[in-house]
Amino acid sequence: ELKIAVIGGGSSYTPELVEGLIKRFSELPVKQLYLADIEAGREKLEIVGALARRMAEKAGVPMEIKLTLDRREAIEGADFVATQMRVGLLEARSRDERIPARYGLIGQETTGAGGFAKALRTVPVILDICRDIRELAPDAFMLNFTNPAGIVTEAVLKYGGGVKTIGLCNLPIGIRMQVAELYGVDDSLVDIETVGINHLNWTTRVHLDGVDITTDFLEKAAGSSGLTMKNIPDLDWDAGLLKALKALPCAYHRYYYMRDEMLSEQLEKLHTVGTRADVVKQVEEELFELYKDPDLNVKPSQLEQRGGAYYSEVAVRLMTSIYTNKKDIQTVNVRNNGIISFLPDEVSIEVNAVIDADGAHPLQLTRTPGAHIRGMLQVVKAYEELTVEAAVHGDYDTALQALTIHPLVGTAAAAKAILDDILTENRSYLPQF
Ligand code: G6P
Ligand code: MN
Repeated sequence: ELKIAVIGGGSSYTPELVEGLIKRFSELPVKQLYLADIEAGREKLEIVGALARRMAEKAGVPMEIKLTLDRREAIEGADFVATQMRVGLLEARSRDERIPARYGLIGQETTGAGGFAKALRTVPVILDICRDIRELAPDAFMLNFTNPAGIVTEAVLKYGGGVKTIGLCNLPIGIRMQVAELYGVDDSLVDIETVGINHLNWTTRVHLDGVDITTDFLEKAAGSSGLTMKNIPDLDWDAGLLKALKALPCAYHRYYYMRDEMLSEQLEKLHTVGTRADVVKQVEEELFELYKDPDLNVKPSQLEQRGGAYYSEVAVRLMTSIYTNKKDIQTVNVRNNGIISFLPDEVSIEVNAVIDADGAHPLQLTRTPGAHIRGMLQVVKAYEELTVEAAVHGDYDTALQALTIHPLVGTAAAAKAILDDILTENRSYLPQF
């Protein structure tokens, strides 16, 4: 009697997840899928829920789809609780993206000061959800997609009171799929090794059918091979950089390695289409118009304009491997436990792990990261640790320390100005401050 609860079930991404659940139904026979949302999301929940039901019916899959505004009803007795909510909705994301821009800095929803603001809003809600899980579904796995996923997962690992959690992102599987496409093979033949943290990780090894093709892959990945996500400007990686790194940086690394180019992109867009949140608002409006069509009973292709490609693959593969005790390898966010030797044991990292009925067991790295990776990871992870503390305890001084060391903020003056703006503009979402 498998039960899944989706917190933030009214999201425009939900048809993606439902499509994945339908495809895997024989392996992962979900009896009940609860889509939970808040009052402000009622209309979206009803639209997307009705589409989900049509999709299941069309596919002939006996998965009951329940809609609720009562999170606890959704969580009670669930086997998996997937969190995909956005505290403060797209309005808050738009502010997150604008505040740093005011000071000439990168305004991004997960990376830098924007992600910091999102963490402050999200952590209190996530810890509330943990309380519900401890009480109503203590054996459940919390699959956390909510961004900034690395920070949010770390908050649960440290303060969730023992709730089992795994943090997820679609970037690693995206790389796998892109390798498969580049070489014209099925992705089951591709094996990659990832090291780092969420939205700041490197692919350090690529195997194709057991053969190490890393060097060849890096040559191909330089220039315009399309190795990016829909939400991030597709600036080409420099061949010399990839050769020097001997690794493929993730798409979000562009904010660090190509900060100036990304800043001018951002500035140009601010003056034309607005922030990414503004673009996403438009896309969402169009999507929900489509979702309303009573004749629509499959996921519309327009959803591919969002950055979350393969999101459902990631969620469904993970749930399936836990449910069937599969012991395959997936890239997830877990407690470090010494895997990355130069980071503390208790932080979250994003690496390959064996997935079985007990959860995710991170694998030893086969490529030891050098000083370049160590240096960036230690700084950004320290920022994340401080952000977790600031978000949990509502401590101004810790928050200021966090922002000040973030490489995309860079100065104490900017950090203070941004922090003050964030606290003012998010007041109603920050009970801890
Ligand atoms: C990527 C990231 C996700 C993020 C998404 C944003 O897929 O891995 O964590 O949520 O992009 O896409 P959006 O369409 O909302 O800008
Ligand atoms: Mn992600």
